[in-house]
Amino acid sequence: MKNTLIEALQWRYATKKYDPTFQLDPKDKETLERVLQLTPTSYGLQPLHYIWLEDKALLEKTKTLAWNQQQIIDAGAVLVLCTKTELDAAYLDAHADLMRDTRNMQEEQIKGFRAHLHTAIGNKSAAHVQVWNDKQAYIALGQLLTACALLQLDATPMEGFDPIALDELLQLKEKGLHSVLICTIGKRAADDHYQHLQKVRRPKKSLFSTR
Ligand SMILES: Cc1cc2nc3c(=O)[nH]c(=O)nc-3n(C[C@H](O)[C@H](O)[C@H](O)COP(=O)(O)O)c2cc1C
Repeated sequence: MKNTLIEALQWRYATKKYDPTFQLDPKDKETLERVLQLTPTSYGLQPLHYIWLEDKALLEKTKTLAWNQQQIIDAGAVLVLCTKTELDAAYLDAHADLMRDTRNMQEEQIKGFRAHLHTAIGNKSAAHVQVWNDKQAYIALGQLLTACALLQLDATPMEGFDPIALDELLQLKEKGLHSVLICTIGKRAADDHYQHLQKVRRPKKSLFSTR
């Protein structure tokens, strides 16, 4: 497994040019959805929502909001990773309810956690909550990229877009959501020369220390 994992991570790269004829296998799509569902989040709150962009007009408009990155048109799938703009009391309670019911707990056993959620999140400013939620999307992106690599699917993580414009295009604000990242998924084009470039990574000794 260790070799498989490292080989997959070495194989993957932020794909710049896709084979436009490639279509994502529905089974792989299902696996990726499960991977995203299994992503860990702070307190398990999952302040996330994922949108598969398939509508041609929306894809074209999204491309123009994303530095005209052609991957948005040519990739087999385009996923927008969104986060919730707020975590209100009802959402926190719904999460505590879900945990209680999933684990067959009594309310008595969950009430401490429930109260803690309300205090811990209730004390954060709206701006803090937004940043905190957005961090969860990056965890999901990391899981997604590793999963794609293991499935031998190419992918491109993208921050290179105007999130406010994309929120407007997809009417996310009305849904209490905000776009944070885009990930395109597909098959690298044979002539994408980026696939042959050496990985540029700082030496391990500058990344790790022991104290
Ligand atoms: C959060 C994030 C945002 C990125 N945004 C873009 C992007 O908008 N367009 C793009 O082509 N690559 C984007 N990249 C790819 C990085 O440039 C790339 O991952 C990095 O240079 C390392 O190269 P590698 O992934 O090919 O190993 C992004 C990567 C991350 C992690």
